[in-house]
Amino acid sequence: MSFIREGELTFIERFFANILKAGPMPKHVAFIMDGNRRYAQKCHVERQEGHSQGFEKLAETLRWCLNLGIREVTVYAFSIENFKRSKEEVDGLMDLARQKFSRLLEEQENWKKHGVCIRVLGDLHLLPVDIQELIARAVQATRSYNNDVSESLLEKCLYTSNSPDPDLLIRTSGEVRLSDFLLWQTSHSCLVFQSVLWPEYSFWNLCEAILRYQMNSSALQKARASYMDERKRQQMAKDQAYVRKKLQQEGTASHEDPVHQQNLLQQYTAMREERIQAFLQALEQKRVDFLDRLCTASA
Ligand code: IPE
Ligand code: IPE
Ligand code: MG
Repeated sequence: MSFIREGELTFIERFFANILKAGPMPKHVAFIMDGNRRYAQKCHVERQEGHSQGFEKLAETLRWCLNLGIREVTVYAFSIENFKRSKEEVDGLMDLARQKFSRLLEEQENWKKHGVCIRVLGDLHLLPVDIQELIARAVQATRSYNNDVSESLLEKCLYTSNSPDPDLLIRTSGEVRLSDFLLWQTSHSCLVFQSVLWPEYSFWNLCEAILRYQMNSSALQKARASYMDERKRQQMAKDQAYVRKKLQQEGTASHEDPVHQQNLLQQYTAMREERIQAFLQALEQKRVDFLDRLCTASA
């Protein structure tokens, strides 16, 4: 059987889905799937059974998302902090993750036909070593490189950079915190905290979360757009200040010439773009090497 459960919505679910789809739909939804152990306790089953049902719920939820036209889903299945749990529980969770995610990856060719792309990431969506290297490079570089380091560049260094930020983040089980999940990427997302335990999550819980997103979506979009504009404006102001200073230092007669200033600004931004691309390519290569080493070590 396929990991993402194939199947259609019921009549009433389809009816409601169509009503929802008339409004703005989130393109990318992130889930913090929490409450497996409380569910196991509540239902008097083994803890591992709670985790297993949690993975089953993920399969079901992915199908609902697919039926609702949500093509991108990111899930928090395990955190670095979770390694502090008992060895037995960690091993059980790792076994489940290995089984379920490898099935999902095997099926990805099939899901690509539906426009679904599957990526399984670790918790390392922000690798401290990358950031250290980035800052070290900027420090070593001449003053002209100061402008290279910006929020936009830091964002491009994250593992999640080739995917848009989540529009909606859902955490189940009534816990109102992010537990270090996608902290940067959710600054303009709609955050929805629901009291239902993850293995009991239902299609209607998902609809409720989407409705809450819809009620807030125009405010979120405005906030995101104005943040992006401000970021561009700040970068432009920094570049212009740099070019003006450089021209003044040169002390040539042309430093007052706006056309000359404009040309220099264009050259300066193009050169920065080249440096950044080179840096990002090197970073990507480092990641590929790191993952290769990891796969070889665990093979
Ligand atoms: C979430 O459920 C799953 C993982 C963290 C792996 P929990 O295991 O945190 O269950 P609760 O929150 O203790 O009920
Ligand atoms: C949260 O795990 C992350 C996942 C659901 C995978 P926990 O349930 O252990 O979260 P905290 O540590 O209590 O915030
Ligand atoms: Mg928990």
